[in-house]
Amino acid sequence: MKYALIGCGRIAPNHLEAAVNNKLEIVGICDIVPNHMNILLEKVGMQDANLKQYTDYHEMLEKEKPELVAIATESGEHARIALDCLDAGCNLIIEKPIALSLEDADKIIEKSKEKGLVVCANHQNRFNKSIQKIREAVEDGDFGKMLYGTAHIRWNRGKDYYTQAPWRGTWAQDGGALMNQCIHNIDLLRWMMGDEVTEVCAYTDNLNHDYIQAEDLGIAIVKFKNGSYGIIEGTTDVYPKNLEETLYLFGQKGTVKAGGKSVNIIEEWIFDKDEDAEKIKEENSEMPKNIYGFGHTPLYKNVIEAIENHTKPLVDAEAGKRALEMVLAIYKSAAEGRPVKLPLDKCSTMDFVGRFDK
Ligand SMILES: NC(=O)c1ccc[n+]([C@@H]2O[C@H](COP(=O)([O-])OP(=O)(O)OC[C@H]3O[C@@H](n4cnc5c(N)ncnc54)[C@H](O)[C@@H]3O)[C@@H](O)[C@H]2O)c1
Repeated sequence: MKYALIGCGRIAPNHLEAAVNNKLEIVGICDIVPNHMNILLEKVGMQDANLKQYTDYHEMLEKEKPELVAIATESGEHARIALDCLDAGCNLIIEKPIALSLEDADKIIEKSKEKGLVVCANHQNRFNKSIQKIREAVEDGDFGKMLYGTAHIRWNRGKDYYTQAPWRGTWAQDGGALMNQCIHNIDLLRWMMGDEVTEVCAYTDNLNHDYIQAEDLGIAIVKFKNGSYGIIEGTTDVYPKNLEETLYLFGQKGTVKAGGKSVNIIEEWIFDKDEDAEKIKEENSEMPKNIYGFGHTPLYKNVIEAIENHTKPLVDAEAGKRALEMVLAIYKSAAEGRPVKLPLDKCSTMDFVGRFDK
């Protein structure tokens, strides 16, 4: 399958490695800054692979006709590039968040349906061994009635991170800690608790990063349609480095905690079942070298299978929209000082421009 990558920055090595691991034919890579492509190829040891390099993705799509394209540019560019790629007939893996407005997410969903193309939102943590095992328990009904779940993302990002690229922390291109760093776990909480949310009540603030526009802390309470609740606490303020990312699920007949730096380790596994909990914890925990984890390769595999078998990928464009909607609902509730009902109609990060200006 012919594959191309647009955007060759920080997360790009995970994409190229996933493409190689899945034996995709890499027909081109593209970045508007030529040197970023060289740095990427060196990072993954592919500097001698003679990959075709482009600075204009339109030209790459036209010449190479890739069947699958990954978009890993700054978030504010995802929608425009995705719509162009769909027009060119490409299936897509779009880095999270899928877009920065619900209108743009809807446009991507509609066009992918119109063209019969697969679109996947890159929430790779769904493929963590820990998360797959927990999801299996949810689907098997092992928790009984779900009562509540919590998502804590206690990370650190400092000036060195935010000044790496001018788009970081801006409303037009990124959003803050919740939209960028915490959206993975927000996706997981929503997915595990049954997807359907009725109401969100939240606070957000910028406490310790006066050089970015968006939030560095978000606290939210979520009501799910099935009567259960969620608590979200996400930040890039934790001193002095990433502490943990945890997902707790509490059901009538089960308690689970996934922890570690990015929910890769099952720390608690308690069910009223005859099973070896210690073995399950051990077999389904991983220690990846960084917070991005091992998820890109299985996510790519899942997308390739969806394209070949005309099925939906595990994290389809609708799932990407649901995660985006949760973050936007948190922003809206915090900005308006009241709970907001879901589904949200129209909402964009741009609705919150100036919110934390002093
Ligand atoms: N899945 C994850 O765990 C994960 C981790 C980090 C980042 N991300 C997401 O990936 C995206 C990229 O993040 P990053 O940290 O790699 O950013 P980055 O700034 O390091 O890289 C973005 C690259 O895109 C290039 N670019 C911008 N516009 C372009 C265009 N029109 N055509 C081609 N290239 C273009 C830039 O020059 C830059 O090299 C963001 O949406 C971010 O939220 C996801």
